Amino acid sequence: MADLSTVYLGLKLKNPLVSSASPLAEHVETVQRLEEAGIAAVVMDSLFEEQIIHESLELDHYLFYGSESSAEVNSYYPQTGKYTLKADAYVERLGKIKKAVKIPVIGSLNGVSTGGWIKYARKIEAAGADALELNLYYLATDPDLTAARLEDNYVTLVGDLRKSIKIPIAVKLSPFFTSLPNIARRLVEAGANGLVLFNRFYQPDLDLENLTVVPRLTLSTSNELLLPLRWISILYSRIPVDFALTTGIHTVDDVVKGIMAGASVTMMASVLLEKGIGWIPDLLTGLEKWITSHEYESIEQMKGSLSQRSVKETAAFERANYMKVLGSFKFLP
Ligand SMILES: Cc1cc2nc3c(=O)[nH]c(=O)nc-3n(C[C@H](O)[C@H](O)[C@H](O)COP(=O)(O)O)c2cc1C
Repeated sequence: MADLSTVYLGLKLKNPLVSSASPLAEHVETVQRLEEAGIAAVVMDSLFEEQIIHESLELDHYLFYGSESSAEVNSYYPQTGKYTLKADAYVERLGKIKKAVKIPVIGSLNGVSTGGWIKYARKIEAAGADALELNLYYLATDPDLTAARLEDNYVTLVGDLRKSIKIPIAVKLSPFFTSLPNIARRLVEAGANGLVLFNRFYQPDLDLENLTVVPRLTLSTSNELLLPLRWISILYSRIPVDFALTTGIHTVDDVVKGIMAGASVTMMASVLLEKGIGWIPDLLTGLEKWITSHEYESIEQMKGSLSQRSVKETAAFERANYMKVLGSFKFLP
């Protein structure tokens, strides 16, 4: 029998399949079904900073110097619909989920500014969360706001969180940094125990009939795996931290690629929303079969074996690959 166990954020997990932050954790019963199906850990849907401080909007005063009106900012944030969970109700639900299942439960905060709202990290910890995932997402639109200032702010926030809670912290990042390795290292130095790559962005679309901007949520496909795969391959063994791969994990091969690149766990949302929770046992059976038929013994043995340091062609992950890929396209006029 292949050993599927892995360690993520110091948590010993029975396998590398984790349910990513999503509506899958909105109900205690769904999390119980995820556990029965074999998922190793669950990340809660996020509690947004704006849900905690939406009236004071500390965030925008801090970063925007008042350059956008509160009304405009207010209309953007997810204050209505299913994301308007009140912060206390979120913490209460987390407590109920913790009591209902044995697998680790990871709380999730989504925000970017330091300030009073991070007291909810302590409440999440007190409710029994095994770890906290911080989703850092800020779309800079002000030309006066420098990347350095924004990054300093992220680092300060992680440092402040580190001081306020004892449970492990994972930081979920976007791929949009000029020097991802640098910010990754700074976040780890500030106290992050894990990096979750990558946050998936939902770009608003334009409705030409009504002349409005419309939100558009599409689920991922395996094609989107390549971006986090490349970056985990590059960062693994350069930055001493656990990696979680999110975006594009749909099949057994996707899971294996994530582990080989250096991820400790592979997280899934789209595929479970699309195919249902019944897909988890299929993935686990397929994973075990893959490992034994390729003569590996464990996930630990496979981890990072195709990371940039381990493959012969290290340039495959860098600029040389870009040139090679473009050159490989054969156009027949
Ligand atoms: C409907 C839906 C809701 C989501 N809600 C959250 C959230 O609250 N917090 C968060 O960090 N990510 C959220 N995500 C992003 C997922 O956790 C995940 O990172 C992303 O969907 C990419 O993984 P996938 O390819 O497996 O879907 C959500 C995704 C979906 C589809």
